[in-house]
Amino acid sequence: MHMINKQPRVTTAPARIRFAAWTPLVAIGALTLSLSAAALSAAADEALYDRLGGQAAIEAVAGSLVDRILGDARVNRWFAHTAATPENTASYKARLSQFICEASGGPCHYAGRDMVSAHRGRKVTSEAFDAVVEDLVAVLATMKVPEREQADLLRLLGPLKQSIVQP
Ligand code: HEM
Repeated sequence: MHMINKQPRVTTAPARIRFAAWTPLVAIGALTLSLSAAALSAAADEALYDRLGGQAAIEAVAGSLVDRILGDARVNRWFAHTAATPENTASYKARLSQFICEASGGPCHYAGRDMVSAHRGRKVTSEAFDAVVEDLVAVLATMKVPEREQADLLRLLGPLKQSIVQP
């Protein structure tokens, strides 16, 4: 009885140990594969916000864009209030950056007005809108934002033209 019980234990134990030793390795291997697959697809689907470089990069883009707009004779007459004090300039940069952050999928909440209300009565022309987009493209190029992210940001902001350009 003793021997019968003992015998299988002795012979099966190494197999069990081998199985027990390999199972976690196989599981870790499978997990590693699925994690790297997830990492790859996450990189492809990563929010524009992250691909641009997150909050700091977006603040830099918005800041340089506003500086460029204020120096652009084609459009700066619309921004007299923005240019009037350093506080007004800083506040506009912050709101623009918050807007871009949220629109690009970042963890921000834009607390300002919607684009139609924010631009109502300002009589922004189609040419003025295009000039601002040109300023944005120049800023993105200067900051060496890759082509794909430039295109994605323009695809995001371009359609706002119909809300911003108003009679
Ligand atoms: C895609 C393009 C644009 C975006 C994303 C944008 C976004 C914004 C945002 C987020 C605000 C703040 C609104 C608020 O706080 O309630 C704003 C205000 C304003 N926008 Fe635009 N805008 C765009 C184009 C333009 C253009 C083309 C003009 C004129 C040429 C313009 C003129 C203004 C002015 C004058 C203000 C008020 C600024 C201030 O209070 O100092 N915007 N815009």
